[in-house]
Amino acid sequence: MNTEIIQVDPIRPDEGAVSVAVSYLRKGNAVVFPTETVYGLGANALDSDAVKSIFMVKGRPHDNPLLLHVSSLEMAQRCISEDLSCYSRLTDKLWPGPVTLIFHKSAEIPLTATAGLDTVGIRFPAHPVARLMIELAGIPVAAPSANLSGKPSPTEESHVLEDLMDRVPCILLAGKTVFGLESTIIDLTQDPPVLLRPGPISPEQLRETLDDIAITIPDISDEHIPKAPGMKYRHYSPDVDLILIQGDLEQVVKEAKDLAKASRAAILCCEEHKQAFASVAIPVVLGSLERPYEIAMNLFGALRRLSDMNLDIAISESFPEKGIGLAIMNRLSKAASKIIRV
Ligand code: TXA
Ligand code: MG
Repeated sequence: MNTEIIQVDPIRPDEGAVSVAVSYLRKGNAVVFPTETVYGLGANALDSDAVKSIFMVKGRPHDNPLLLHVSSLEMAQRCISEDLSCYSRLTDKLWPGPVTLIFHKSAEIPLTATAGLDTVGIRFPAHPVARLMIELAGIPVAAPSANLSGKPSPTEESHVLEDLMDRVPCILLAGKTVFGLESTIIDLTQDPPVLLRPGPISPEQLRETLDDIAITIPDISDEHIPKAPGMKYRHYSPDVDLILIQGDLEQVVKEAKDLAKASRAAILCCEEHKQAFASVAIPVVLGSLERPYEIAMNLFGALRRLSDMNLDIAISESFPEKGIGLAIMNRLSKAASKIIRV
């Protein structure tokens, strides 16, 4: 398949350029588009065959539901059976933005999109290109992250091309995404609401913004706690074993030395610890501990890079689980083949 690649300005996208992607959407094709979290692979959510093509292109398991992307509250209302205005305290504060809310689906949404569930995740992206595309299309856009199943979500143009070039008819490129990690997911069909996937908006921020709206924040590392269906799959994995080590720096360096000896090893670490690991393995620096959003933004790109480094083993240190750090550690734990606590 020939892929039409269209470069668009991330802040002031050209309507004509985005319309090309819209015409593919209207024909039932899947297209790649940028959002503020990661790139998405979208199709007309109301068209069951179009939705099926997303699963095919990605190689996605059929029991893993898709999120619906909307460009207005009216469009969100069309997708759900609850009265959205009852949730205005939440939507006023969180939308548009990197938070997905789960409701009960409306009859119009095909079960192929929700993998048979009667609930549906609604995402109202803030990214100007995503918003314009959905607005011009006038339909909700079902979209997972635009990676091949199992790979890290694409945060840069090269990631998208690597995974989906020649597999979709149209790709909108607009540089790096902003957050680099997928949206925070909150399930509003449970009372009180439950955080299903940590993301760019942290539990601390949710508590602060929503003061009197209680949200259950489960221990994300507890395997017995219900999560978003897709989170049971191994994910984000580089083509080399990744060992995540948790503990004090001194102990982590010692453990990493043991793991890395006599092999070609790289270690994902922060700027501050680069020196401490320099004699142990090739440091792959994610960013400074003082700027955790930078670490988040670089994580998926770094995981992809590990696959190209011809390594025997990859190691990662751990990051503080506060703020966006909870989402960073959630993704790292999913990418790891083993977690060692020292
Ligand atoms: O930031 C994002 O959320 C990105 C961009 C493209 O919008 N999208 C994204 O989609 O990460 P995806 O499909 O890669 O991850 C969505 C997650 C999956 O784990 C899926 O199982 C879960 O959301 N999910 C979808 N519908 C759900 C539902 N009705 N109930 C619970 N979890 C759901
Ligand atoms: Mg995904």
